[in-house]
Amino acid sequence: MSLIKISPSILSADFSKLGNEIQDLEKAGADLIHIDVMDGHFVPNITIGPDVISKLRKYTNLPFDVHLMISPVHNFIKDFADAGADIITIHPEATNDLISSIEKIKSYNKKVGISLNPETSVDKVFSILNLIDLVLIMSVNPGFGGQKFIKETLNKVKLIRKEIDLKKLKTEIEIDGGINFENSKIAIEAGVNIIVSGTTIFKENSGNLKKNIQTLKTG
Ligand code: DX5
Ligand code: ZN
Repeated sequence: MSLIKISPSILSADFSKLGNEIQDLEKAGADLIHIDVMDGHFVPNITIGPDVISKLRKYTNLPFDVHLMISPVHNFIKDFADAGADIITIHPEATNDLISSIEKIKSYNKKVGISLNPETSVDKVFSILNLIDLVLIMSVNPGFGGQKFIKETLNKVKLIRKEIDLKKLKTEIEIDGGINFENSKIAIEAGVNIIVSGTTIFKENSGNLKKNIQTLKTG
């Protein structure tokens, strides 16, 4: 099993000082910065867009793990690539032509992630695992931080891990939503290698980012 990486979600950060929050996450040992982009249409919440992301880019060299919950997503891919995203993750339901959206992300030399909602089947990614860099398993319905972890989604992690290992691929598996110190261990056992967390990282142990990141990483 490869090393576990932590991708803190800035959805739980103080939006009035995002630059400082990102610097604090880097100091605390974050591996990536998870940025949730919501449009009030694909999901019932609105967050930030490419202009804010491009302004944040100078605060860290950590990879920007950009989770796009916007639809239709295809024509916005360039904006997020230009803004400094390193990984661009999209939902299959948000594009008319998944393969062409994957190719578009790749054309900007960005890593491609495909995200599966709790109700979305693994079939959506099984045949394209060799084309993508990452599968993002949503363990809550996307839209808000602080929701309860849906443990059944770990069955999909296990299936995808088996398939990736069988095919000897390097595709990563990331989990997102409701992660705490208990279920993170189970998720890692199921085959996840990147953990997203907002609430646990920013709120547990009086917001001790370093301790929270370390605990999620080592269990
Ligand atoms: C939910 C987002 C998540 C969220 C995770 O739609 O994709 O990244 O911020 O937050 P917690 O860890 O609070 O569930
Ligand atoms: Zn997310």
